[in-house]
Amino acid sequence: MPTLDLCTEEEVANLVYSFYDKVREDALLGPFFNAHVKNWDSHLLKMVDFWSSALRGTARFRGTPMPTHAALPGVSASMFQHWLQLFRETTATLGNSPMQARANLLAQRIAESLWYGYQLHRQPVQIPQGIDCE
Ligand code: HEM
Repeated sequence: MPTLDLCTEEEVANLVYSFYDKVREDALLGPFFNAHVKNWDSHLLKMVDFWSSALRGTARFRGTPMPTHAALPGVSASMFQHWLQLFRETTATLGNSPMQARANLLAQRIAESLWYGYQLHRQPVQIPQGIDCE
């Protein structure tokens, strides 16, 4: 299958490993991720597959993000906001503006969708809120 030439596989891996280094050190998200990620090595490999599929069209990712996130206890809009902030800080350091723009846009859309699905799963009778409503 042809891949997109937005970025290289090395740039994808760099994005993923730099981002999760930040996440793991973060006061809000670090303890949460460390409590819920069972195996960091396999999580990071899976996230490289996810972003390689999203940014390079490699179609390597096999997973089910919606049920995985819906099963996590105590996720909030502010956690998604913060996740996106750290992600944008990371993509700004990559030195690849087209990749930065595309990754930020995809992350925003996917975060909104995951947060929407999370609320529908947890509180089906309430109207779901956007990420910025808190
Ligand atoms: C508050 C924000 C978020 C939190 C706390 C969070 C947390 C987690 C956790 C704990 C896992 C499971 C890891 C494991 O099983 O070892 C996971 C998996 C995953 N996350 Fe997130 N996440 C967040 C936002 C996002 C966003 C915005 C994206 C995409 C743009 C994303 C993409 C993924 C993917 C692709 C997986 C793998 C799903 C699978 O195994 O099928 N996450 N996340």
